[in-house]
Amino acid sequence: MLNEKMEEALNEQINRELYSSYLYLAMSAYSSSIGLPGFSHWFKVQVREETIHGMKLFDYINRQGGRVKLKEIKEPPMEFGTPMEMFQKTLQHEQFVTRSINDLVDLARSEKDETTVSFLQWYVKEQVEEEENDNEIIDKLKNAGENKEALSTLDAELAKRLPPNDEEESI
Ligand code: FEO
Repeated sequence: MLNEKMEEALNEQINRELYSSYLYLAMSAYSSSIGLPGFSHWFKVQVREETIHGMKLFDYINRQGGRVKLKEIKEPPMEFGTPMEMFQKTLQHEQFVTRSINDLVDLARSEKDETTVSFLQWYVKEQVEEEENDNEIIDKLKNAGENKEALSTLDAELAKRLPPNDEEESI
């Protein structure tokens, strides 16, 4: 079972994950508008990842007999600057999400909610992957510098990102 404080905090996290999905959808549209279809595709896959993150929380609250409360999702920006600036913003956002997951783990521990501590371990690991992916792309953008051909090669590489697998979608 979930206590009220934990339920509220998990509901806030659903909102953060769904906002992440919305933010990356905006980045996908922006990438498309600046002629980077591979970047656009990469962010579209990320949208699905974030929806899964939100849905895992949704299912967990329901399975624990709690009540899901969907809150308003704020409007994301429309402009993200250069590809490097866009990925720096992506990394900063993921670092914010990582902090929010760590805060949830702290709360679950202080509430002696071992079930939720255990449930959240998936997110702790996932955040390592999320930040790693962004750091890798930032490094590639650094190497590409002002070279348009290198940016095109990176765009073609990001176009190959595979969608999340079924295993990831189940809790
Ligand atoms: Fe759901 Fe990208 O953190």
